[in-house]
Amino acid sequence: MTQRTLVLLKPDTVRRGLVGEVLSRFEAKGLTVVAMELRQITGELADQHYAEHVERDFYPPLRAFVTSGPLVSLVLEGDEAIEVVRAINGATDGRKAAPGTIRGDLSLSNRENLVHGSDSPESAEREIAIWFPGLT
Ligand code: CMP
Repeated sequence: MTQRTLVLLKPDTVRRGLVGEVLSRFEAKGLTVVAMELRQITGELADQHYAEHVERDFYPPLRAFVTSGPLVSLVLEGDEAIEVVRAINGATDGRKAAPGTIRGDLSLSNRENLVHGSDSPESAEREIAIWFPGLT
């Protein structure tokens, strides 16, 4: 089934000059970019996006990190896009993520893990509405 998913190339991806490398992995897989924007977000937007994590101990440094510089938000579309993107991203902790995944190949961190992908159809719908309210 064709799905859309919300992907973030977090500030570490932009800072490290990996936007092209990361984006090309999604494109090479066959996913289509249907929306994309570079911007530095406010803490309020971070709180909305990470609503389920705001009470967690790891959230204050995560909030500081995701607002620390520009990031790229995008919507990707394709067959089973939500699962496919999560597989390409790899496990949350870059130190444990499998080689061949974005995090496994390019991140050594649990926080600065380069990418975000929606974890379910419900999350994708909620997150796309937050980041791209004009997208139909
Ligand atoms: P993401 O897929 O965007 O979803 C939540 C984010 O919180 C996750 O990627 C990491 O960037 C961060 N995160 C999750 N768990 C931890 C943790 N234990 N310590 C630090 N950051 C975390």
